Amino acid sequence: MAGRIPQAFLDDIVARADIVEVIGARVPLKKSGREFKANCPFHNEKSPSFWVSPDKQFYHCFGCGAHGTVIGFLMQYEKMDFMDAVADLAQRAGLELPREAQGSRDPGSVDLHEVTSKASRFFEQNLADNARARAYLDGRGIDGKTSAAFALGYAPDAWDALLTRFGDHEDDRRRLFQVGLIIERDTRGGERAAGFYDRFRDRLMFPIRDSRGRVIGFGGRVLDKGEPKYLNSPETPLFHKGRELYGLYEARQAHNDFKRLMVVEGYMDVVRLHQAGITYAVATLGTATTQEHLNKIFRMTSELVFCFDGDNAGRKAAWRALENALPLARDGRELKFMFLPDGHDPDTLVAEEGREAFEARLKGALPLSEYMIQQLTADLTLEHEEGRAKLKALAAPLFARMPDGIYRELLADRLAATIRMPAAKLKEYLFAGDPKRPAAEPEAPRRGQISSSRNSAGRGNLLSQAIMLVLHHPVAARSVTHIDALASIDRPGVSVLRELLEQAADMANPSTGMLLERWRERPEYGRLSELAIAAPMMAEPAGMAKELQMAVEKLIEEYGPGRRMDELLRKADDMGLNYDEKAELSLLLKAKGRPRPPT
Ligand code: UTP
Ligand code: MN
Repeated sequence: MAGRIPQAFLDDIVARADIVEVIGARVPLKKSGREFKANCPFHNEKSPSFWVSPDKQFYHCFGCGAHGTVIGFLMQYEKMDFMDAVADLAQRAGLELPREAQGSRDPGSVDLHEVTSKASRFFEQNLADNARARAYLDGRGIDGKTSAAFALGYAPDAWDALLTRFGDHEDDRRRLFQVGLIIERDTRGGERAAGFYDRFRDRLMFPIRDSRGRVIGFGGRVLDKGEPKYLNSPETPLFHKGRELYGLYEARQAHNDFKRLMVVEGYMDVVRLHQAGITYAVATLGTATTQEHLNKIFRMTSELVFCFDGDNAGRKAAWRALENALPLARDGRELKFMFLPDGHDPDTLVAEEGREAFEARLKGALPLSEYMIQQLTADLTLEHEEGRAKLKALAAPLFARMPDGIYRELLADRLAATIRMPAAKLKEYLFAGDPKRPAAEPEAPRRGQISSSRNSAGRGNLLSQAIMLVLHHPVAARSVTHIDALASIDRPGVSVLRELLEQAADMANPSTGMLLERWRERPEYGRLSELAIAAPMMAEPAGMAKELQMAVEKLIEEYGPGRRMDELLRKADDMGLNYDEKAELSLLLKAKGRPRPPT
C-alpha cells in the first residue's frame, strides 16, 4: 500500500503536517513543557495521560498505549485507511499526490470506478426485474432491506448483456475489460470474430466495495448448479483480493466503533449475519487471511474473531490463519478462534438459532494462545525424546514468527506450564533455533526481530539502546561513523539498526514519526513503536549522539566479522565445526585473505 507512495513524499507529508494542529483540531490539547497533553480520545479517563510531542511528531497514551504518527492518528481517530489519511494530509498541506500514489485516485481511473458502479446499478436493476433471481434470494432468507444494503444484483443470462448496455465504444470496452467485467475472446481458432463477452452470466452478484463505498469488484454466485460456485473479479487496478474484506464497508456503515470484527468464510455468511444484526462480520474473498487483511482489521479494532466451519477444511483454514496472524499477535490485541458445529456455516447456523445464540458462541471462542497450545500438545508424549523433538519442530517455527515481546514470552510460559517443563528450559529449546548461534545465547533475537530491552544487561540490550537512540534523536544518525561495518554483521536486528541509521541520515528533517512511517507495513513496526515510546536514559541531544556512536562501535566489536572468525577458530580447536560452520569460516577466512586451516 505504502509502496505506491514515494518515500520522499511520505516524509514530506509527515514533516509538513503539524501533529499538534491536526490532533488539536479534534482533541482539546493543553501545553505542558515542550509537549501537549489531553484526556485520551481512545479510552475513558478523568486525568490526562495522552501526550503529543511536536519534536517527535508522535503521540502516545500512557493509559491505553495508543500511539502513532500524524497519519496513524487519522487512521485511529477518523477510521481512515492509510491512503485516505495521506490524501487528507496532502490536501491540507496543499500538496498534489504524486502520480504513482494516485492509483485509483487519478482522473483516468475515476472512470474505472464509474464503470464498476454503473455495472453494479445495472445488476441491481436486473435483480429487481428477474423473478427467478429474486426467488433464489428469498429462498435463502435474504430480505429486501439487506439486499439493498449490500447492493446485491443479478447478472443476466446472456453473453453480452453488459457489453451491449455499456460497451458501445472502443474506450468503453477497454475500461470494462480493465475492471474484469468482460473477457476477450480467444481468436486463435480463427472461427469467431475478435471481441469480448460478459464475465458474469446468470449469477447473483455481490459488489465488493472499498472503504469509501466505491465498487471495486464483484463476486457472482450461480443460481442453480454450475462451476465455479462463486466467480470473483480478477485482480485489476481497482481490486486486489489479498487486501479487501467483503462487508467491511457495510460494517463501518453500521458501527461508529467496533468492539470486534469477525472474519467468516463466505459472502452469504456476511450478508446473512448482518441481516441477523451481527454487523461486525467480514469475509476474505476465497483466500486465506493475509497480513494486509489483519493490519487493516487491527487498525479498526483490537479484537478479531476468526469463525470457521467445524469440518476438516475449516480446521485447516484455521491453522493457516493462525500462522498468518502470529506476526501480528501482541499484547493488547485479542485474536480468537471460533469453531462451528460440523455441517454448519454461519449462514445456516444464524438462520437456525438466531443472533443471541450465535453470539453466545463467542464466549466459547479460543484465544490464539489456547488454540495454539491445544494444537501443539495434542497427542504429544513428552517423556520421550521424539515427543520433545516433535514439539520443537512444530513450535519453534511458530514462535519464530512472533514479534519479540511480552506476548511471546507469556505464550512460551504457558506452553511450558502445559507440558510441565521449566520455562527457561523450554525457551532455550525453542528459541535457540539458529544453528549459527551457540545455544548458550537463548535470548538472542532471531531474523527480523529486535531483541527486547528487558534482557537487562545482555547484548540485546545494546542493540535496543542503539535503536531507541536513533528513534528518539534521528538527527544523530548523520554523525554516526562505521554504518557500513554494520552491514557485515549477520545478526537480525542489526540490519534493522543499520537501515534506520541510513534512513535517518538521508532525511532532511528527520523525526521519530517520519522514521516510524517507513516501517508501518513491516513486522518490526510494533517493536519499533514500543522503543519510540520507551524513555531513553538521557534526553540531552549531544549525549544521545555520543551514546549512539558508542553503541554502534560496541556492536561492531562484539559481532563484527573479526569476532565471529575468532569464535569459530576457537570452536574448531575445542570441539570441531559442523558443516555450516566450516563453510562460514572458510568464507570469513577468504574475505580476510588467510588460508584455510586444516580441519
Ligand atoms: P463456500 O463454498 O463455503 O460457500 O465458499 P458458501 O459461502 O457457504 O456459499 P453458499 O452458502 O453456498 O452460497 C466460501 C467462500 O469461498 C469462496 C467465496 O468467497 C465463498 O464465499 N469461493 C467458494 C470461491 O471464490 N469460489 C468458489 O467456487 C467457491
Ligand atoms: Mn453457505
